[in-house]
Amino acid sequence: MKKIIVIATLLISITVACKSKKATTSTAKADSNMDAQLTAVNARFPNTTMEELKKGHSIYTGACTKCHGAKDVTVYTEPRLLEIVDVMAKKAEITAEEKQALIKFAVGVRATSK
Ligand code: HEC
Repeated sequence: MKKIIVIATLLISITVACKSKKATTSTAKADSNMDAQLTAVNARFPNTTMEELKKGHSIYTGACTKCHGAKDVTVYTEPRLLEIVDVMAKKAEITAEEKQALIKFAVGVRATSK
């Protein structure tokens, strides 16, 4: 009987611990900016879709953070940034299509960061 109580207590504390962790993940800030980013990107790359921009965002926060944190893409000139992305795309082993989505996302972030 004692064992059951111990196990039940353990299960409850694990459940509570997991629930409190969930609240910390938030992408609200990125989302609220994405409409403005899409408008800016379309001035450079016509017919870019929100889906593509979101794909770029998820690569930037996913594959691009395997080795280091999310780098600030606004501190470089655009030609320099494109050179860096060329090198990093190989490191991250992303496809040409994924790289294009990432470039569009970066252009959008740059254009709306001022
Ligand atoms: C396999 C590991 C790896 C992956 C994956 C990776 N990087 Fe890097 N990145 C590095 C290393 C190593 C450096 C140089 C050291 C540093 O600045 O942290 C670097 C530096 C950078 C810099 C600074 C360059 C400079 O000259 O100031 C930027 C910007 C950057 N990475 C962006 C990206 C982006 C965007 C992606 C996704 C396509 C990416 N990285 C994926 C390893 C990686």
